[in-house]
Amino acid sequence: MKAEITRQRATRLLSSGNVIMVSSAYKDRANIITLAWKTPLSHNPPLIGISIAKTHFSCELIEKSEEFIVNIPELEILDKVVFCGSVSGRQVDKFKETKLNPLKANRLIKTPLIADCIGNLECYVRDVREFGDHKFFVGEIIYAQAEEGMFEQTWDVDKMRLIYHLGGAFFTSSGQMIRV
Ligand SMILES: Cc1cc2nc3c(=O)[nH]c(=O)nc-3n(C[C@H](O)[C@H](O)[C@H](O)COP(=O)(O)O)c2cc1C
Repeated sequence: MKAEITRQRATRLLSSGNVIMVSSAYKDRANIITLAWKTPLSHNPPLIGISIAKTHFSCELIEKSEEFIVNIPELEILDKVVFCGSVSGRQVDKFKETKLNPLKANRLIKTPLIADCIGNLECYVRDVREFGDHKFFVGEIIYAQAEEGMFEQTWDVDKMRLIYHLGGAFFTSSGQMIRV
């Protein structure tokens, strides 16, 4: 027996992988947004997609700068992940409030990466599409880096814990590595 789930809540039946923090910047403003809705799109060229509500400050900054950085947080900084996903950068400087450290990107011009995250993917925007109340940004990965010892063929989840969003205030994290 199954119970109906409202159409609005049905996206929660899908897992969207590990939570990311996307940094963006335009002119003198830099910002961080927490995102669950993201997807790899292509190996060659390496393309990924992120879906951001049109009303969010990050949407505006990324459209204007045409670049963004995907930063991979560990469970250790869950409180900062939730903060960056709860307040708007229009009102607060999230780098300042969270004490997350901005660092000059390796390839991008303005957008800083988050030094406290264990991985960073620097992306140029290659396409933007509107889907309902969100904008979907297709980014080409220009440069990527990961904390030494934590990533070989994949994240070594025996050494660290990625964050997964179940929806609303509910999270889970990566468990033991399973190799088949
Ligand atoms: C775990 C988590 C996942 C989220 N995923 C998304 C997402 O995929 N897309 C989105 O537009 N907002 C998402 N949000 C909401 C934004 O992060 C939040 O509204 C943020 O405050 C917007 O910031 P900004 O206005 O500074 O860009 C998420 C929030 C949390 C806590």
